[in-house]
Amino acid sequence: MTVHFIGAGPGAPDLLTLRGRDLIAASPVCLYAGSLVPEGVLAHCPAGARIVNTAPLSLEQIIDEIRAAHAAGQNVARLHSGDLSVWSAMGEQLRCLREEGIPYTVTPGVPSFAAAAATLEAELTLPGLSQSVVLTRTSGRASAMPDSESLHNFAQTGAVLAIHLSIHVLARVVQELTPHYGADCPVAVVWRASWPDERVVRATLATVEAAVGNGMERTAIILVGRTLGAQDFATSRLYAGDYDRRYRPVGTAPRFPESGTP
Ligand SMILES: C[S@@+](CC[C@H](N)C(=O)[O-])C[C@H]1O[C@@H](n2cnc3c(N)ncnc32)[C@H](O)[C@@H]1O
Repeated sequence: MTVHFIGAGPGAPDLLTLRGRDLIAASPVCLYAGSLVPEGVLAHCPAGARIVNTAPLSLEQIIDEIRAAHAAGQNVARLHSGDLSVWSAMGEQLRCLREEGIPYTVTPGVPSFAAAAATLEAELTLPGLSQSVVLTRTSGRASAMPDSESLHNFAQTGAVLAIHLSIHVLARVVQELTPHYGADCPVAVVWRASWPDERVVRATLATVEAAVGNGMERTAIILVGRTLGAQDFATSRLYAGDYDRRYRPVGTAPRFPESGTP
């Protein structure tokens, strides 16, 4: 018996990995995290599977479900939205399973920031403008932010910010970031990226609050940075004709003479 933690992706059922799909299909128990995991993903559960929405459960109740499956020798598919590496509460569940000696695996999923960037058809890192993306959030009731991880501190780097769990405090986000990025800095808000009712607002720090209005609650990501919508950026050297590299030796004395393709 194994508990398979699976990133269920941002919403579109076909943004689930093949490995995730197969593990779900092989697990007679499925525990899924609330409304962010689409029914299309649950459709991969085998007939007769025990399917439990864990949104109303406490950690102890979730672990009780896993203990029961363990006692019955049944695999569990444990689904969380997006990827498991950020804001999934997987860490505390793994800690319990390690303490109890219950085996588990972890399968990644498409994170919401990547789905939002795809919706925007955007590369978030563009040469000469920004080469870093900060995945962050603002303080919530369930999790306070460490003091050093303020928007103010991250903004000082000029990196692109992918701000999760914060659409309800958009005004504060704008207020904290404007002194660093400037009122004309591009902002994109993607609500329910990859879901059928997905919505997108492209604006600037000056205009985003009015543009969003009251129409977006909860499942939205706020992207802020100079690469959004940019056309004026350098071309990467990677594909430049005169750039001598391992897979494309160039010139009379290439750095990697043996590694070029025949
Ligand atoms: C509890 S976190 C889960 C993050 C998830 N583990 C991930 O990899 O993106 C929930 C937050 O992620 C963001 N989010 C999740 N799915 C989203 C989607 N389809 N579109 C936009 N934002 C999404 C929102 O900021 C939401 O408040």
